[in-house]
Amino acid sequence: MRAAMAKAEVGDDVYGEDPTTRVLEERVAGLFGHEAALFTPTGSLANVLAVRSLVGVGQEVLCEASAHIARAELGAHGAITGLTMRTWTHHRGQIDPAAIDAMFAPDPGPFFVQTKAISVENTHNFAGGAVLPIADLQALLRVGGADRHEDPPRRRPHLERARRDRHPAS
Ligand SMILES: Cc1ncc(COP(=O)(O)O)c(C=O)c1O
Repeated sequence: MRAAMAKAEVGDDVYGEDPTTRVLEERVAGLFGHEAALFTPTGSLANVLAVRSLVGVGQEVLCEASAHIARAELGAHGAITGLTMRTWTHHRGQIDPAAIDAMFAPDPGPFFVQTKAISVENTHNFAGGAVLPIADLQALLRVGGADRHEDPPRRRPHLERARRDRHPAS
């Protein structure tokens, strides 16, 4: 990897002149079907930006209680972006559709906190690298009852994953 870094073509990324970063961003955007991607030097920064792009000040993201965004990242989500979190608890960091459904509040009315995103971590770092089954991820699309073809969508998923170097997929 060091040799690849040493050989990489570089440029001023502020002006979009770094060909290596540009190729990486275009490739990842294509992989996920997005119009663009942004390279960040840390996963924590990626999470803060990603969640903030979905959740505004005073709004909430739902996540599992031992999720990295809730337990780590220096509490940046609350400290920097002003959003709130509510959590469900699972000893293996798994999705709990019933608990999420009970918390999910996209239209809570005045005075109440609006749910703007559900964050799941796959694989789950603090749950020992636990993998989330695809069926459970798909169950998230049915949270809140209505089918998925809404415009704008009421559910906005944030998918997070533990570093591969720490927990090879079990
Ligand atoms: C699930 C998960 N998310 C985010 C991060 C943060 O990554 P970084 O240390 O690059 O900020 C980690 C780091 O281990 C992680 O395991």
